[in-house]
Amino acid sequence: MGEGLGVRVLVLRSLSDLRQWRDAVPHGKSVGFVPTMGALHAGHMKLIEECGKDVDLTIVSIFVNPLQFGPNEDLARYPRPFEQDQKLCEQAGVDVIFAPESSGFYSVDHATYCDVEGLDRYLCGASRPGHFRGVCTVVLKLFNLVQPHRAYFGKKDIQQALILRKMVADLSLNLEMVLVDTVREPSGLALSSRNGYLSDEDKQRAASLYRGLSTARSAYQNGERNSEILKSIIRNEMDLGSVRADDSPNRIDYIEIVSQSKLEPIIIIDQPAVMALAVYYGKTRLIDNILIP
Ligand code: PAF
Repeated sequence: MGEGLGVRVLVLRSLSDLRQWRDAVPHGKSVGFVPTMGALHAGHMKLIEECGKDVDLTIVSIFVNPLQFGPNEDLARYPRPFEQDQKLCEQAGVDVIFAPESSGFYSVDHATYCDVEGLDRYLCGASRPGHFRGVCTVVLKLFNLVQPHRAYFGKKDIQQALILRKMVADLSLNLEMVLVDTVREPSGLALSSRNGYLSDEDKQRAASLYRGLSTARSAYQNGERNSEILKSIIRNEMDLGSVRADDSPNRIDYIEIVSQSKLEPIIIIDQPAVMALAVYYGKTRLIDNILIP
């Protein structure tokens, strides 16, 4: 990893430049990879920091992957503050940014996809059909190009992290997956590139998501094992506010308690589980979760 502050990060724009760089990495040097869609925040910086501690060279990809957005999702308005991202990477001592042009990453006749079956049946997989297929396809392609020894993902996107971990295991990819804790604002709100869409009022309300999860976790720690009761605790804590002026009301997408192994709903919590939720504040969809125990 570079020394940070002022060291210019190498920006690679094409697949062939990335291949050339990777081929030139000396044999004994370890490569750590942090895939992102940019709009970097303290959550990403934590991934980069953890990566920098473990490896010799840190590479960050910045690519808003069209394959993982549904037709009515926010692909067009997804934030793309590249210069700011580049500065943050420079300050953090990142060695390389891979930021392909959106037109050059997939060939025009791209027809190959990666599907991890089963783990996407619930949670975000149920509300965003095709999303994880898009995530797995881009990450597998990126892994092929970068050939990292270690790759870093946030636990905030827990379903993504567990699906990708399964993909790595099933396809015998030769790398270690590292899952990093969620970074939160002082209010408890999990950091997300999508928080930038929220009004101050929505942000205050959205802090209730983590409050709900924490209250349910306390109930679990005090012996409550019934998922329905824990879910109602989360729901009761949630501040959805009043009806909005536009036609996109605040609403719960899901509150679910699933097993960590299969990501399937469980009625009585008798194994490692995830309490997870997704909520819309207007058009902005937020997710959060807590692992239990
Ligand atoms: O978590 C994200 O930002 C994206 O889903 C990822 C892993 C970079 C793939 O596009």
